[in-house]
Amino acid sequence: MRQLIAGNWKMHGLAGQLPEVLGIATSAEAASSYADILICPPATFIARAAVAAAGRMAIGGQDCSAEAQGAFTGDISTAMLLDAGASAVIVGHSERRHYHGETNEIVSAKAATASHAGLLTIICIGETQAQRKAGETFSVCDDQIAQSLPDGMNLAATAIAHEPLWAIGSGRVPSSQEIVDVHEHIRKCLVARFGADGKSVRILYGGSVKPDNAREILALPEVDGALIGGASLKAADFDAIVRSAGPRA
Ligand code: PGA
Repeated sequence: MRQLIAGNWKMHGLAGQLPEVLGIATSAEAASSYADILICPPATFIARAAVAAAGRMAIGGQDCSAEAQGAFTGDISTAMLLDAGASAVIVGHSERRHYHGETNEIVSAKAATASHAGLLTIICIGETQAQRKAGETFSVCDDQIAQSLPDGMNLAATAIAHEPLWAIGSGRVPSSQEIVDVHEHIRKCLVARFGADGKSVRILYGGSVKPDNAREILALPEVDGALIGGASLKAADFDAIVRSAGPRA
């Protein structure tokens, strides 16, 4: 399975940052034999980023509507993402769940729409610090997978991003063993539900992935890539992370 190194630019991305997109596209091209590279800029920046990327890497959205079109002010449909040049989308990021009240049910509907539209779909899950301390990490992940991942998705174009909430933007990461334990658990959960097809879903780690810890994280079993926030904004940082990826069995 090829690793997926995905950047989530969150609410960053103005014309002045186009050189970063160009720099990242150059790294992506160099890594094309062993990894898939994706950048998810804000919706207003997707079309320009897609032109700058010129097919050297994928461009994605950070959210999409579950609806096809209509009176949904401010929302962005999957057709609009495709039209702008995106081929992927993140759904259910913890910031969407937290600031926009997105429930598992909403995330599941978005994921179904995205997958049916042919977009590579990254579904985010993750536990809070309190849940981890209470030993609930596995059960929280089980519930989120059961309820945010709809039936009928194209599993080969689906990724689960496990992002412990307390690791996002904090500079803190779980130990390698903790990452492996959760990812192995997620894999078991996927195989229990989907059979052998559950093996084709990529499981990404997210939360404070940086140039100095990427090599260790990306070498772990069942880590099929990473979802990167802050360190994806600078081409030099992102390049160092991309170079840490490698071919997987
Ligand atoms: P971070 O963000 O890499 O800045 O911790 C990760 C994410 O929120 O996807």
